[in-house]
Amino acid sequence: MAKRFSVTFLKSGTTVQVSEDERVLYAGLQAGVALASECRRGMCKTCMVLVDGVIDQSEAFLISDAELAQGYALICVGRPRSDLRVHA
Ligand code: FES
Repeated sequence: MAKRFSVTFLKSGTTVQVSEDERVLYAGLQAGVALASECRRGMCKTCMVLVDGVIDQSEAFLISDAELAQGYALICVGRPRSDLRVHA
């Protein structure tokens, strides 16, 4: 059974339970959170935000190592690996 994590979108204060297989962007949109996105394939950075916690970025092709080190993530392809706080 897939693990689930609490993901909080800080601007709206919305918290949702997100499966480890689910993408953070889609979970937020389904909960009614206004989130910017364009390609939804990790290729444009429109969805890039600061994220506190561990988020899988193995499909985030356009993000740089420096951006990852600063805590940014492409949430359209980001799957939670811990509880998260999303700065959006
Ligand atoms: S929407 Fe394009 S990288 Fe996420």
